[in-house]
Amino acid sequence: MTDVAVLNRSQLPEGVSLEEIQGACPGTDGQVKLRYYPENRESDSRELDWTSVDPARNFTVQWKLQDLAPGTSYQLEFLARKDAGSAVSDTFHGTFQTAGGAEMAGPLNFSIVSCHDYDRKDHPDGHKIYAAMLEDDLDFYIHTGDIEYYDKPNPYAFTEELMRFKWDRLFALPLQRDFYARTTAYFMKDDHDILYDDAFPGMTYGPVTFERGLEIFDEEQFPSRDTTYTTIRWGKDLQIWILEGRRYRSKNTDPDSPAKTILGEAQKQWLFNTLQASDATFKVIVSASPVLGPDRPRGKNDNHSNKAFQTEGDEIRAFVNQFDNIFFCNGDRHWQYVTHFEDTNLWEFGCGAGADEHAGGWSQDNVQPEHRFLRVKGGYLFGQVTYENDQPQLHFQHRDVDGKTVHEEVFDSSGAPLQ
Ligand SMILES: [Fe+2]
Repeated sequence: MTDVAVLNRSQLPEGVSLEEIQGACPGTDGQVKLRYYPENRESDSRELDWTSVDPARNFTVQWKLQDLAPGTSYQLEFLARKDAGSAVSDTFHGTFQTAGGAEMAGPLNFSIVSCHDYDRKDHPDGHKIYAAMLEDDLDFYIHTGDIEYYDKPNPYAFTEELMRFKWDRLFALPLQRDFYARTTAYFMKDDHDILYDDAFPGMTYGPVTFERGLEIFDEEQFPSRDTTYTTIRWGKDLQIWILEGRRYRSKNTDPDSPAKTILGEAQKQWLFNTLQASDATFKVIVSASPVLGPDRPRGKNDNHSNKAFQTEGDEIRAFVNQFDNIFFCNGDRHWQYVTHFEDTNLWEFGCGAGADEHAGGWSQDNVQPEHRFLRVKGGYLFGQVTYENDQPQLHFQHRDVDGKTVHEEVFDSSGAPLQ
């Protein structure tokens, strides 16, 4: 059954349209305009003229701002109108921060989250982590994916219409809206944001192909880039790497071998070369899924901590272990953890799911020797660069859904842990 209208209908109560479902936020034709300027320098403002939204791309527009100054806070003003003959019908304001680059030393705050959806939100207005993180004065935020779940009910999103319905509904939530209007954000995707659990190239969900799932994420719903993996020098002391974990992967079901990959050869060489070349004090690799684990003992064949991708996992772990200042952060797993293997330089910080309702998949009693911390609850990971007697320190704090710190690890400028 691939008739799209029949598939859409199958997810709706009798006589009810998609626009009438609770939380629906359908797009509409119209024009938008953007004005932006560095904080306190409104006289330097620039304007991008009225542009029509694209109905073929869920009524969106994307602007790429090429002329931004480093280490600067910008103010944004968006205007909307129906057409050239009509008055401005809506405005809203936002802010974002640009990265400082290799020359700029100074404190930085950031957060990393994973795994939440509309149905498992913990507040009528959204997810409580977004209210908590607004208090953190973040320079930037990274979502590691499973931002929504196409393959969970109410509705199952196995058509493009239903997929867009889920994005529009989630990002219309007040807590999410307030947070994103004021925070520099990087969005990574994972399996549930493309098609469904453990998806890999070649799969389909209803009539939607894996390639179409990538397009909707990478070119329509979230900011488009030439490559979906990137590295950003946030300051003299911090560089981050954001990995692409789905686009280039082998089939999960293939036997493990030196050719079997999650990153793909080009991305892997780029990762190794750029890590080697970087003189940042702290280097943080953000991966959608775990590299160290441990993952669930049975049934997983999707990430570098699983046997199914062990060869490439070992190659990455051996490379990173040569350095004493590289840290893995990951999403995907629905519990919070810190993993460190004694006598290695390997550290991994799993941020956990975005709500307590969403936590699970590991037993709180199952503490392994490599676990420095384990908590089967929701929350987020807060990261911080601070200075002690002019020397930089890197902090990772696991936080609960209300922003309370439940665990902290601190590293000195050589990358050594302080406790
Ligand atoms: Fe997830």
